[in-house]
Amino acid sequence: MIKRMRRLRQPGVRDLVAENRLSVKTMIQPIFVDERLSQPKPIDSMPGQNRQSLDSVAGEAAELEDLGVPAVLLFGLPAHKDEMGSAAYDSQGIIQKAVAKIKETTNLVVITDLCLCEYTSHGHCGLIRGEKILNDETLPILGEIAVSHAEAGADIIAPSGMMDGMVGAIRTALDLEGYTETPILSYAAKYASTFYGPFREAAESGFAFGDRKGYQMNPANAAEAMWEVQLDLEEGADMVMVKPAMPYLDILRSVKDVFGVPTAAYQVSGEYSMIAAAAERGWLNDRAAFLEALTSIKRAGADMIITYWAKEYAKLGQE
Ligand code: PBG
Repeated sequence: MIKRMRRLRQPGVRDLVAENRLSVKTMIQPIFVDERLSQPKPIDSMPGQNRQSLDSVAGEAAELEDLGVPAVLLFGLPAHKDEMGSAAYDSQGIIQKAVAKIKETTNLVVITDLCLCEYTSHGHCGLIRGEKILNDETLPILGEIAVSHAEAGADIIAPSGMMDGMVGAIRTALDLEGYTETPILSYAAKYASTFYGPFREAAESGFAFGDRKGYQMNPANAAEAMWEVQLDLEEGADMVMVKPAMPYLDILRSVKDVFGVPTAAYQVSGEYSMIAAAAERGWLNDRAAFLEALTSIKRAGADMIITYWAKEYAKLGQE
């Protein structure tokens, strides 16, 4: 007798037996806020995405909230950069102001990306001496930035710089200032990926020399990701992230299976723009491609997905 697998692939039944489902309730929309803008500006390298101004960001956030997107991940583009990235912890900095504005006008969960690279003149995620990245000297600054985000009202702090000891330093700094209830979502397994290409234009965070291979992970490594996640959890991370998503679905599956903690996956700028650009040429249906890519990320174990397509997904009006 033939085992008839196709019986469950009939219309209606197919959906009923689906093992994984996307939900807007688990999607996070990244937003870029640019201090120099007075109105939104399209990002050339990411068709359909904009940089927001401080004036426009609250409206954008309100629209997301109305559509049912529960959370945003904020990136700041400061008017001035320096060696120390001091605009990153300025209480009147672009991120601090944007967080306060969004919290004033919406009930969104506001997650702040915590990194120096958008704020340093050299574009690296740590302080430098010559061309050397100074890991330990960077940690207190990361703590200071975290506190400034929490003071502004951030709900979750997401450090992305891949400095060793970063999560511990941030947890200590937050606790010392009384922010014991502010969770940390660590970019724990963050790979040195070429798929961040379009983001570097979006956030103007390209680097003046070298690359990020000295702190971000080697794409060849899988076991090392388990170490990274374990260390971040020991240092106090509440949630962890795998980034990028689709080229690293194996890592995502292992992290979820081994640690069982809330796990986010970041469908990064290159993953977004590949689909968006192919769709512009008529080579792919973007909606179908995004739904398939996001479903794959879910299937691989993501509890939350950070995706530039969150707003579009929400517009479909599905759950
Ligand atoms: C900052 C940061 C980057 C991204 C998120 N946070 C850039 C990088 O590490 O070079 C990439 C996000 C994306 O490509 O969508 N460290």
